[in-house]
Amino acid sequence: MRILRTASNLNQAVRRARAGGARIGFVPTMGYLHDGHLALVRAAREECDLVVASIFVNPLQFAAGEDLAKYPRDLPRDHRLLRKADVDLLFEPENFYPEGFATRVSVERLGERLCGRYRPGHFVGVSTVVTKLLAAAEPDRLYLGRKDYQQAMILTRMVADLNLPVRVVICPTVREADGLAMSSRNVYLTPEERAWAPNFYRALRATALLIESGEVRGAGEATAEVERRLLGSPMRLQYAEALTADDLAPIDPLTGDLVLAAAVFLGKARLIDNVAVRAPRPPRPGKKNDRGRRV
Ligand code: PAJ
Repeated sequence: MRILRTASNLNQAVRRARAGGARIGFVPTMGYLHDGHLALVRAAREECDLVVASIFVNPLQFAAGEDLAKYPRDLPRDHRLLRKADVDLLFEPENFYPEGFATRVSVERLGERLCGRYRPGHFVGVSTVVTKLLAAAEPDRLYLGRKDYQQAMILTRMVADLNLPVRVVICPTVREADGLAMSSRNVYLTPEERAWAPNFYRALRATALLIESGEVRGAGEATAEVERRLLGSPMRLQYAEALTADDLAPIDPLTGDLVLAAAVFLGKARLIDNVAVRAPRPPRPGKKNDRGRRV
């Protein structure tokens, strides 16, 4: 595994591989790797000839007062894991935002809901850094996790809107045995908080089932149901929303393909998670039969 620290060095290495006919897969990360990250690397390894990963704790996507300085880091361990996963090139950019850097990439609408409402500037920071990373790595495929569903939707939109020549591959959320979605930030949890944490996913799953069975039909009811299921735990709900799966639009009553996405505070950690929901569709007005009844 070669470690590269400038965009031009990475770009040269990737172009050389591409000239030899290699398909290039790219997995951007902020490090402190876990099995969710490694699942993306494995998917890239299976589908591509050259696998590029990046580790960069991107200051642009942290708002003032967020955990940039404390974000967990363990580069020696990350290097071991990536080597073992057979990554070819690791990009660890240095001085990625030199003096005078002034450009931002902003995806409208999709970036304003859910986390976007509570983390001003976050998704602009994500879109901007991923644009820079894509320009350096020029991959054929970009691997993202469904765990960060809104991020994946925003980046998919961005790639389409800017005609970026890359295919976005979204991989399933990897969970601990008890259901907690893996996250670098889970390390912030005390053992007692960690024991409570699986209730978050359970609350989302249970609410999703109620929506799917038609018992919960209203958007507000879905939010209230998640909240109710977290009562009595040390988790404080920041938001829970059922939105359309593709464009994250509000919908009420709930029908069709949805995502139920939520964020909670638990001790020092802010956890996010989401589940897919197939809400019942209203019966389609059918053709009338010869007795005038709809069939
Ligand atoms: P990070 O949180 O390190 O995540 C890197 C990638 O791993 C993202 O695509 C994320 O969705 C995916 N991922 C994280 N946890 C996962 C899990 N449990 N299962 C499956 N995939 C998971 O997301 C970022 O970094 C940054 O915003 C980044 C895209 C690198 C831009 O800075």
